[in-house]
Amino acid sequence: TVLILDFGSQYSHLITRRVREMGVYCELLPCTQKMSELHFKPKGIILSGSPYSVYDTDAPRVDPAVFESGVPILGICYGLQEMTNHMGGKVEACDHREYGHAMLNVIKHPNFPLADKLFEGLGDELKVWMSHGDQVTQAAPGFLVISKTNTAPFAAVAHESKPFFGIQFHPEVTHTDDGQAVLKNFVVNICHADASWTMDAFVDKEIARIRKIVGPHGRVVGAVSGGVDSTVAAKLMHEAIGDRFHAILVDNGVMRLNECANVKKMLGDKMGINIKVSDAADLFLGRLKGVTDPETKRKIIGNTFIEVFEAEAAIIDKECGGEIEYLLQGTLYPDVIESISFKGPSATIKTHHNVGGLLEDMKLKLIEPLRELFKDEVRALGKILGLDDELVWRHPFPGPGIAIRVLGEVTKEQVEIARLADNIYIEEIKKNGYYRQIAQAYAALLPIKAVGVMGDKRTYEQVIALRAVETKDFMTADIFASAEWFVCLKRISSRIINEVKGVNRVVYDISSKPPATIEWE
Ligand code: XMP
Repeated sequence: TVLILDFGSQYSHLITRRVREMGVYCELLPCTQKMSELHFKPKGIILSGSPYSVYDTDAPRVDPAVFESGVPILGICYGLQEMTNHMGGKVEACDHREYGHAMLNVIKHPNFPLADKLFEGLGDELKVWMSHGDQVTQAAPGFLVISKTNTAPFAAVAHESKPFFGIQFHPEVTHTDDGQAVLKNFVVNICHADASWTMDAFVDKEIARIRKIVGPHGRVVGAVSGGVDSTVAAKLMHEAIGDRFHAILVDNGVMRLNECANVKKMLGDKMGINIKVSDAADLFLGRLKGVTDPETKRKIIGNTFIEVFEAEAAIIDKECGGEIEYLLQGTLYPDVIESISFKGPSATIKTHHNVGGLLEDMKLKLIEPLRELFKDEVRALGKILGLDDELVWRHPFPGPGIAIRVLGEVTKEQVEIARLADNIYIEEIKKNGYYRQIAQAYAALLPIKAVGVMGDKRTYEQVIALRAVETKDFMTADIFASAEWFVCLKRISSRIINEVKGVNRVVYDISSKPPATIEWE
């Protein structure tokens, strides 16, 4: 395992990704992590970049024990500056912030073979990506300059005798040619980390781990939604403990068209998972009556979900003699990182529906088989587990479902309109080959009426808004747009207006995130 200490750079996750792509398992932890409290012994440590300056009074500091741990260290950008600062060198602000490509000249030191290892096999010049406002102006004692650029005399440094390296550029971004090779030199050739971490190995290890935790008789209960994460987690549990995993699908009345039946068919009939559907549509819709505030809708749905799930789990528990001990959750690595960031969990913009509240009441222990994985790793895992492509590449769907896509009051009739429009939209997107290019698409029903004309008659009906975005992380998003797509939208619009009663107008949302969010509520 390689340890990556995060100082808050937007690229920290990318370092983690790059290292895992080499088949080396690594963990990203906040820079405040105490070495004495680490639960594993790292083969090497990478210090990330940061939006801070080392001389800021509130600058994040690394545990000094890092430098005494005896393992190789690579400082990237702020990581280099923090190491330099800590070890007695100098860091100052540049005249101008440097952002973009730079040519790196590699400087060899035949008398110091360890120092040359970072750029071994990479030639004398490297095209790299820079993004920094500070730079090293005096290397710490014992450090050699191993590369420079026109503007950065200390673009990379290495210690004469210790395996300590620092680079000003960002090897983790694809704009740095050979960035992966630099990281590989560090991780594989300098740290000698084991490069055998693969998804297949993960599956075997995780199944063994689940069996060990749950024991030969224990049972696990978990909610499924038809989304990638919960389905992959459920499939993994099923592989590990078979029918001792009990999946519960709560029909909250605001799911997509035919979703419940489809999920039951797929997980139950096709995958053989023990699944129980709880039809609670009327309960949810009853509680949503008259509610228009988005956050109130989320709270009602979240709380009602917990109530229904708990009741169903209690029935199952009783039926099988009180052997349910664990609750399955499909938590992913980004959620874990977010909750442990040294800056604290990011400010809540919208409260996301989760089942955390379940644990308190039910006295269940948590089991999270996906907590080490990124979304695309979950997809790769899904493929290995034999899930259909259609499922593996499914767009995300929010827990509160169509309730936050029917703006204003949520009624059965309004949900039905949004559902039918959404179904036509997604059907056309798939038929025209756009589904994989779009990260998320859906139809929302707006709480307004518009005038139209049909035949010779004036109409006064509702408006559907279509949304389609491109994004990798769902934190920022661009609208999906192209000339051909607009032609396709024209067809979709006319199908919706013709086929969905109560709608006479369709609009396309052209707002990016930020400042808009992906959902309308
Ligand atoms: P926003 O609207 O915040 O959405 O840009 C970002 C991503 O999160 C999804 N989303 C939710 N997912 N419960 C969820 O499980 C929620 O309350 C919720 N709100 C938004 C949204 O669909 C998008 O993928």
